[in-house]
Amino acid sequence: MTIDRRAFTGAVATLALAGWLPSNALAQKKLVLGFAQVGAESEWRTANTESIKSAAKEAGIELKFSDAQQKQENQIKAIRSYIAQKVDVIAFSPVVESGWETVLREAKAAKIPVILTDRAVSTKDDSLYVTFMGSDFVEEGRKAGRWLVEKMKDQKGEVNIVELQGTVGSAPAIDRKKGFEEIVKADPKFKIIRSKTGDFTRVKGKEVMEAFLKADGKKINVLFAHNDDMAIGAIQAIEEAGLKPAKDITIISIDGVKGAFEAMIAGKLNVTVECSPLLGPQLMQAVKDIKADKPLPKRIVTEEGIFPMEVASKEFPSRKY
Ligand code: AHR
Repeated sequence: MTIDRRAFTGAVATLALAGWLPSNALAQKKLVLGFAQVGAESEWRTANTESIKSAAKEAGIELKFSDAQQKQENQIKAIRSYIAQKVDVIAFSPVVESGWETVLREAKAAKIPVILTDRAVSTKDDSLYVTFMGSDFVEEGRKAGRWLVEKMKDQKGEVNIVELQGTVGSAPAIDRKKGFEEIVKADPKFKIIRSKTGDFTRVKGKEVMEAFLKADGKKINVLFAHNDDMAIGAIQAIEEAGLKPAKDITIISIDGVKGAFEAMIAGKLNVTVECSPLLGPQLMQAVKDIKADKPLPKRIVTEEGIFPMEVASKEFPSRKY
């Protein structure tokens, strides 16, 4: 037998009002959040999942969690199952930007509010979600570009850059590329000579960097990796090719995970731009606010910094992910 959660809640309310149940029976009913996660592709994602799970526990919210293994069809299936289960709120971090309209309309028709976390969707109809909380990925790309422009300001000749992109079609890959290019294109000495996806993973970051090195070897001056995991994989490839990471090839990445700080302390990574995965507490607050009919801003932007290798040892003890 399946129980319709809303009908059940209504029945509890009626009984409580009639004095048949204690008046706190309603207050004891937990909010239910269905969360469709991208996957477990990076150290960042693991920290993000942990933040969501622990914040839900802390907030007394029942969490239904699914891991889409970086496949959009799996995320859509999970969202549909949350709709069928009539959860109170659905949240997800969309693996790619496009292709969400149909399932979001289904959630809207079922009157289940949707929160986007970490990554955005591309839709003209912003009534399909309540709020989008997460980083400004274009700005992260700009920060990476500005750091490079400053570092290479006295360099006279060409600066050959290779780029390891994140998952094709994902918001962070599209936006970080855009922000970085916007800054470096102002000076023609910067040339992006190769750009390919490493799908945000260490394994693919290493694989693609090996191919870059095979094709261009010592011609490469800079690596811009859209996340730390790909940079860490690439560092291995650079060492195996007999080159010194962060010396022969300047390496810039994004996230600020502990692994990146360890690489900086070891002198193998030049800089990481922060992208915080600790979105759990903010998400649980938003779930509560929605259920209490409090208005939420359409966009909640995470505050973030940038950490060059010179500050890595000092900052490392206070890193939370
Ligand atoms: O969407 C955030 C990105 O996804 C992080 O930069 C990356 O590490 C993750 O997999």
